[in-house]
Amino acid sequence: MNRFEQQLRDDAQRTNQALYACLKTSGRDPQEAVFQAMRYSLLDAGKRLRAALVLEFGRMSDADPEGAMSLACAVEMVHAYSLIHDDLPCMDNDDFRRGKPSCHKAFGEANALLAGDGLLTLAFETAASANLPESARLEAVRILSQAAGVAGMIGGQVIDLESEGRQISAELLDTLYALKTGALLRAAAALGCIAGNAPQAIHSAADAYATAYGLAFQITDDILDVVGDAEKLGKPVGSDGENRKTTYVTLFGIDGARQRAAEQIQRAMRSVEQLPDNGFLLWLAELVLTRDH
Ligand code: IPE
Ligand code: IPE
Ligand code: MG
Ligand code: MG
Ligand code: MG
Repeated sequence: MNRFEQQLRDDAQRTNQALYACLKTSGRDPQEAVFQAMRYSLLDAGKRLRAALVLEFGRMSDADPEGAMSLACAVEMVHAYSLIHDDLPCMDNDDFRRGKPSCHKAFGEANALLAGDGLLTLAFETAASANLPESARLEAVRILSQAAGVAGMIGGQVIDLESEGRQISAELLDTLYALKTGALLRAAAALGCIAGNAPQAIHSAADAYATAYGLAFQITDDILDVVGDAEKLGKPVGSDGENRKTTYVTLFGIDGARQRAAEQIQRAMRSVEQLPDNGFLLWLAELVLTRDH
């Protein structure tokens, strides 16, 4: 294992521990059912890539590690909520996620809906309570709400659903991906910078990196939906076809999609070439092109 792989693994482990602490309850609360569903979907699984971005840009900006970790947890909570809702029958109707039955399969639709809502709101409580200066906490909450909201992830999901069953243009697909996937990844990079009050040059590089990374990441998600292994992915393959989505694969074919993902990764790597200690970011970008989950 190289040192970057080790870093990703260590960051994921520390993130899991911090998330666990955020959702620890006595088990005797009357709303324990929804806590259980939240823990089920948030803990012990997921690649924690968004957390890794917060933590790495936090380190580059000399952020307080504990404060940065709270923001990493907040982003992972928003992400986990988006996956719970994304899998619901009224959305992608997928029965597996992170190697086990989707939240609604395990806990029923109403509890899955509420577990998602619970994670979304807990994310903002967590960010607002981070061990950071007040101005950083306020800015973090603003950036995260924008990225999660109608101008970000939710907006992307709306376009995604509306475009089911009809071919959309490459241009609209790029907008959709920038919103549904790119927005939260950009927020993750930005939150690391905010945690350390980074200079503008790091902020701008982080944003350009995460924008290109996000598009490449969603393109490879499309590719894996066609050629991936459900067991490795921990989620069903063929979901996009069943839902008659336009994807990079339907528009450009597998090879065309791979080529476009590679172009975005080149772009991501160029965005951070001026930053010192950029090794992890370069490695993380290249990983997108070879990932199988
Ligand atoms: C899945 O994201 C949803 C997309 C944006 C494609 P990830 O592939 O990062 O999911 P986890 O967190 O590792 O489960
Ligand atoms: C999901 O896109 C993006 C989210 C905002 C959750 P997909 O619907 O392609 O993600 P998967 O393939 O179900 O993980
Ligand atoms: Mg979806
Ligand atoms: Mg989906
Ligand atoms: Mg997908």
